[in-house]
Amino acid sequence: MKRLLICLSLLLGTLTLAAQELTMEGGRFQKGDNPAWSAAAFDDSAWREVTFNQSWEELVDYANGYGWYRIHVVIPSSLKKGVVDAIMLDLGAIDDSDQTWINGHPVGKDGTFPEDPGGYSSEWGRRRRYIVDPSWVRWDRENIIAVRVYNYGDPGGFYRGAAHITKPSLKDFARLSLVAEEGGYKAVLNSSVKTVGSLEVTVTDVMTGATEMSKAQKVTVPAWKEKQLSYALAPQKRISVTYSDPRFSEVLKAEVCSPYILTPPAPATPRYNGPLVFGVRPGSPVIFRLAFSGEKPMKYAVEGLPDGVVLDPDKGVLSGSCAVEGDYPLTFTATNAKGSTSAQFTLKVGTQIGLTPPMGWNSWNCWALSVSQEKVMASAAALINRGLADYGYCYMNIDDAWEAEYRTPDGRIEANEKFPDMKALGDYLHSNGLKFGIYSSPGDHTCGGYLGSLDHEQQDAEVWNSWGVDYLKYDWCGYSKVYDAGRDRSTAACIRPYLKMQQYLREQPRDIFYSLCQYGWDKVWEWGAYIDANSWRTSHDITDTWESLYVTGFERQPGLHPYAGPGHWNDPDMLIVGKVGWSSSLHDSRLTPDEQYTHISLWSLLAANMLIGCPIDLIDDFTFNLLCNNEVNAVNQDILGHQAHQDVVEDGIQIWSRDLYDGTHAVGIFNLNLTTVPVQLGGELAKIGLSADTVRDLWRQKEIPTDAVYQIPPHGVLYVKTGKE
Ligand code: GLA
Repeated sequence: MKRLLICLSLLLGTLTLAAQELTMEGGRFQKGDNPAWSAAAFDDSAWREVTFNQSWEELVDYANGYGWYRIHVVIPSSLKKGVVDAIMLDLGAIDDSDQTWINGHPVGKDGTFPEDPGGYSSEWGRRRRYIVDPSWVRWDRENIIAVRVYNYGDPGGFYRGAAHITKPSLKDFARLSLVAEEGGYKAVLNSSVKTVGSLEVTVTDVMTGATEMSKAQKVTVPAWKEKQLSYALAPQKRISVTYSDPRFSEVLKAEVCSPYILTPPAPATPRYNGPLVFGVRPGSPVIFRLAFSGEKPMKYAVEGLPDGVVLDPDKGVLSGSCAVEGDYPLTFTATNAKGSTSAQFTLKVGTQIGLTPPMGWNSWNCWALSVSQEKVMASAAALINRGLADYGYCYMNIDDAWEAEYRTPDGRIEANEKFPDMKALGDYLHSNGLKFGIYSSPGDHTCGGYLGSLDHEQQDAEVWNSWGVDYLKYDWCGYSKVYDAGRDRSTAACIRPYLKMQQYLREQPRDIFYSLCQYGWDKVWEWGAYIDANSWRTSHDITDTWESLYVTGFERQPGLHPYAGPGHWNDPDMLIVGKVGWSSSLHDSRLTPDEQYTHISLWSLLAANMLIGCPIDLIDDFTFNLLCNNEVNAVNQDILGHQAHQDVVEDGIQIWSRDLYDGTHAVGIFNLNLTTVPVQLGGELAKIGLSADTVRDLWRQKEIPTDAVYQIPPHGVLYVKTGKE
């Protein structure tokens, strides 16, 4: 009966025809991978019928790997009678990568597959929109749309519904993009209809806003062809291209910008850039590195240290432990050849750890399953040598793929051959004031298919303690099996595995920052703090695309601010700047420089975990300056711990703000549009009840007048701090 109902709803779904569009609510599904499944003639009658509003994990017992959908759909010729004879498949979001055919003809591909050159990359958040050559469509007859999908991690395949076929507007037939090439960019205009129009290019200086070049030329592109024009891109320049065909309803636009550094250089004299507090439990090891930038070598001194805590004056590393609870005001002083600087600080010996969001590194976004001890060491050494540790970055977290294939006969977990000596790694990190993070799952296996901690929680916590672990990322993944097998769907059932591990972590004679990873399910923010977790992921895995950043940052985080505070943080996932790739082949983040400023500004406002996802030893100057702006980071680390709220959403402009411990406010004005938008700063601040003659531009670190108009680039931000009220 259930099957009959699904069939019926599929049929009805495929026949839901609005004037311009045909909704597809489901199709047939088969796990596995076979090139023959793209053919129109393939017999899929034995495949399972599924709907598109649920991921494949929710519908079939299948997680990672390949799966195919075949959609049978009658496409009425009424859809073809638009401005031109073509249709657009708008399949919505697909997790993770897809390749799509209609009646055996390839129509598009987003993301890459494991066997592709460069390996697998996810495009889970991207809306799939494929223009289809009308000669491939069987008008008024059944068509077969075959979608090959590769999924890694939850959810799999179609998962948000909203797949449909539309009659595109003229602008959907033409696409204007700027594609990187040696020494610059090429504007690529491709069109599935003949177009005659004007292509205009403007080059501006990012720092001054001055126009340096502007020219227009007439271009003609025959149907299904493309036109390419190359432009050189010098540092700190922005290229904007527009294309207008009088028949198109809209002007096509594309813009690129070379990396530009806003953060002013740090002074050669010592400057303290670290957090103002550090929480440790009585008797637990104190591991803390004084974060001073400035010329090296440097000598460090600390006044007010409690008994048991000692300073290495050459490295600026605090170690030892303190048995007595209390707030210990300390004065840090750093001295180099250029001068001496002091900073006030509080060591809080008490029950709470993680008093400011964790800053550091995690192996996943760059190395994924290819992580090794050598790679962790290279990033750890670079954290110190390149100076990121001077800005408070201190956690070195190994994500999945450190685990051996089997436990020892007595059930002990071991590291695999890529990690010859975990204890030595921990010792090295601690001796430099860095902290050691590890990863596991409450299930019997991790997302990457490695051993999880199920039924070995206590043993694992003890092993990690023996290695000196200071941070655990505990990732739901393999626990789905246990959860699905139980009948209990209550919040208590989601909490149970996390609570269990927390008890064993707390039994260890050291502080272990407890980071939950279950993608924000079951409103984890409502209960995370009650089980003494220090942070919890609020969303699905992030990737280095605007779509992913947008969904993760701007869609999933609004409303979560009441749940963050010292000791417990919302975690919108790791940073996607620098070289990323989730494999052994890395690429520069696909976010534009403006999008990267937006990313770091938003994470700073959100009091988010700041875990760098690129190899630190390969970090370039742009990325360094993005990650090491002391004023931007100070907002993230503000001791009040008030996460920003989304205050204004208006015409693609969003304002987020948070109040800071010193009575000031940090305000991000984000432009989510594809074009530069002028904003009158005073007017924007007034919308959230703030007024001032000048404010501090946090990226440029200078006072700016509020009565001026500022140009916020596409997907860019103006990030400011007001004075005290
Ligand atoms: C999940 C997590 C990621 C990463 C991988 C490891 O997908 O969300 O952050 O830890 O597992 O397999």
